[in-house]
Amino acid sequence: MQTTALDENWWKSWNFIYRRFLSKDIEYFDIRKDDKILDLGCGIGFHLTKFKQQGYSNVIGCDVNKNLLEECHKKGFKVVYGDMRRLNFKSNSFDVVFSYGIFHHIKEFGLALKEVNRVLKAGGYFCFIDIKPSVHRRILDFITFKLPISHPLKVRKNMLLEEKEMYDYFLMNHNRFMELFMKNFKIVWHKKGLCMDIIKALPQKSVR
Ligand SMILES: C[S@@+](CC[C@H](N)C(=O)[O-])C[C@H]1O[C@@H](n2cnc3c(N)ncnc32)[C@H](O)[C@@H]1O
Repeated sequence: MQTTALDENWWKSWNFIYRRFLSKDIEYFDIRKDDKILDLGCGIGFHLTKFKQQGYSNVIGCDVNKNLLEECHKKGFKVVYGDMRRLNFKSNSFDVVFSYGIFHHIKEFGLALKEVNRVLKAGGYFCFIDIKPSVHRRILDFITFKLPISHPLKVRKNMLLEEKEMYDYFLMNHNRFMELFMKNFKIVWHKKGLCMDIIKALPQKSVR
């Protein structure tokens, strides 16, 4: 794992940014309440909490960071250890795989996308949210990293510095990522936000 996401300050920063600017997310996807859902890369359980608050009853989280899993466990969530490049779930297990901000933590997106494709039932959905390259993001990054900054971009800077190498890698290789995405999934809709991609997609089961 590339991030030092274990760091308490990192999570405080993420919480700060998330609560203020990013908190509307699972609402986009119109997921059925009884769907079997995997929150891939669940972290400390932001979205597990949201799923629970919104009445989703069949949700499991997985992450590579055992300490974060322990946090989720303490909060009463069902979680298991899992690396998205090689998941320990049977094929065709989930109606929905939800992932928020995790693909920019690895270089082997092809492997992870195949795994998501594999564990999804035919007709299930991949609900994907992650960063994307854009003029807006470039401006935001310029202000964050090059200008004397004040809150809240200072928080953003500290947070991004910890994962900068992977962040840059993902943005630079975004075309390749999308190519692999399209090989594994048929996009049902794509909300192109200013700085984020929000995609609902069906698995193309023939890839493997
Ligand atoms: C930016 S955090 C997002 C956490 C959570 N999805 C949220 O929205 O709060 C990225 C998460 O991806 C996890 N992660 C990184 N590499 C992973 C991998 N190979 N497999 C599964 N999870 C991974 C990290 O441990 C971390 O919890």
